[in-house]
Amino acid sequence: MGIFSGKEVVLGVTGGIAAYKACEIVRELRKDSANVHVVLTRSGSQFITPLTLQTLSKNPVATDLFDLISESEIGHISLAQRAHLLLIAPATANIIGKVRNGIADDMLSTVVMATTAPVLFAPAMNTQMYASAAVQDNMAVLRSRGYHFVEPDEGELACGTVGPGRLADVDKILEMARIVLSEKPLSGKKVIVSAGPTAEALDPVRFFSNRSSGKMGYAMARAARRMGAQVTLVSGPGAIPAPHFMDTIRVRTADEMFSAVSRASADADVVVMCAAVADFKAKKAAPAKIKKDGFDYRLELSPTVDILETLGKKKGKRILVGFAAETDDLTTNAREKMRRKNLDAIVANDVSRADIGFESDDNEVRIFFPDGEIRELPLATKEGIAVGVWLALNGKLFRR
Ligand code: PMT
Repeated sequence: MGIFSGKEVVLGVTGGIAAYKACEIVRELRKDSANVHVVLTRSGSQFITPLTLQTLSKNPVATDLFDLISESEIGHISLAQRAHLLLIAPATANIIGKVRNGIADDMLSTVVMATTAPVLFAPAMNTQMYASAAVQDNMAVLRSRGYHFVEPDEGELACGTVGPGRLADVDKILEMARIVLSEKPLSGKKVIVSAGPTAEALDPVRFFSNRSSGKMGYAMARAARRMGAQVTLVSGPGAIPAPHFMDTIRVRTADEMFSAVSRASADADVVVMCAAVADFKAKKAAPAKIKKDGFDYRLELSPTVDILETLGKKKGKRILVGFAAETDDLTTNAREKMRRKNLDAIVANDVSRADIGFESDDNEVRIFFPDGEIRELPLATKEGIAVGVWLALNGKLFRR
């Protein structure tokens, strides 16, 4: 179950060229099981029709406070009260200015004033308008009153100028909406998460690696960010795009991951090593491509640095959490790794199964603690497992 599941989201659409992107926002919200009610301003309806948004949202679209039919069917107070989140995308300079100044002269500005739900603005406008003292000042005041913003992206705008002002990507807007909607048990915590495989060179074109896709580690990083932590993700090579609203450090080898994790974790509260770090590397990578003609190549391996074990020797106040990828004797092996690496918890998964572990979208884990306690998290999406792991760690380790 995703964060939007069962949530009532009121989507305010104001008058800018980016209004057409509201269609994609509605579709994505509905795909994540939100119930979406669109409020379209008069100028918004110059760019996109109520019928389009009604068809996509499967709910009537509210267009004007003083439209008698609209008000009797979808009253502004009822919308304001039922909303778990009010998202305004795109948000023009006009709606930002109206809300700052307490103007409630149409359906959308009235719903904003009447709601106690969090309000998230996704501004989109010309670069100079966005940079203007009026807009910047209005946004600063609204932020201080607890309103949320997702900054516009930079790029070429419809008016031809280049700079900030383009509506943020839809997935970025939705991620900020998830952050706004989430409880914040990790607020104030600085968290480092590693993810993905490492790749160890054999020669300039070849390497050995493993099956880790990064899905589990990225889910751990995203869940921590949604729960209020400041997150740095150290990622091995992989295809997953960098998550929004956190620092992502890309590395390739175990040595690079060691340097990045050591540097980033100097003042961290928690380090979670979800990465499948190679245990071996070529003793000496060949300087030129190994030819197959007359091939006589013996691969000599040497162990890589054990990142967690090294951190565990100088732990300080940091909480260290490992993942254990096991194919047999899961409990014995995971506990032995937790002891040897001086960890505060280890999350073990059975990587011999095809439906969980490496590459799959789902996982099932057992969390071991040094005092003998075990928490079992049954089969769920990796997103769901990540939330469960953080809640278990929070309940057990962060409150002591
Ligand atoms: O990326 P996915 O496709 O979503 O798959 C997820 C996963 C199966 C990779 C993940 O859930 C997982 O199990 N990660 C740990 C993989 C692993 O390397 O396990 P291990 O049992 O070999 O190592 C134990 C711990 O020591 C791990 O936290 C590992 O990051 C750490 N380690 C290992 C070797 C090394 N040189 N340095 C380390 O710090």
